[in-house]
Amino acid sequence: MQVDRFERYWMWAASGMLVLFLGAIVITAVAGSAHPPSHVETVDPDTIRVAGEFATPGVAATADGGVTVTMRAEFYVFRPEVIRVPAGKPITFRITSPDVLHGFQIVGSNINLTVAPGYVSEATVTFTRLGEYLIVCNEYCGLAHHLMQGKLIVEARQ
Ligand code: CUA
Repeated sequence: MQVDRFERYWMWAASGMLVLFLGAIVITAVAGSAHPPSHVETVDPDTIRVAGEFATPGVAATADGGVTVTMRAEFYVFRPEVIRVPAGKPITFRITSPDVLHGFQIVGSNINLTVAPGYVSEATVTFTRLGEYLIVCNEYCGLAHHLMQGKLIVEARQ
């Protein structure tokens, strides 16, 4: 089969790009620990306001020395709205929604979760920088989406 010289070059270039991009995915997954969400835990969105851990959102110390922050993202507020956590300890955020899809992004950290009704989104991070962090909803959830924000305050360890 006769393949034009330039067509052959471009075929090699396209094949090279496929290998390059696939390699980038593998390298970031292995070396950078970049993984798609794998935490699947379901809740009944109709009852989370009245029963279970999400009925009383807040900050609690865990037996292993860490901190768990239980939260709800709902029309157009995060509960709790202001969160105080200690620096230098692993902080696990557990968050769900009783209504529609929301986002949970802590600006300046690598926490960026999609909050879907019926599912618990969870992520753990240790903060080293003291001070205030802005929390924003980054999934369009309705007319007041742009007003949906919270505040995280990282305090020196007691
Ligand atoms: Cu909640 Cu946008």
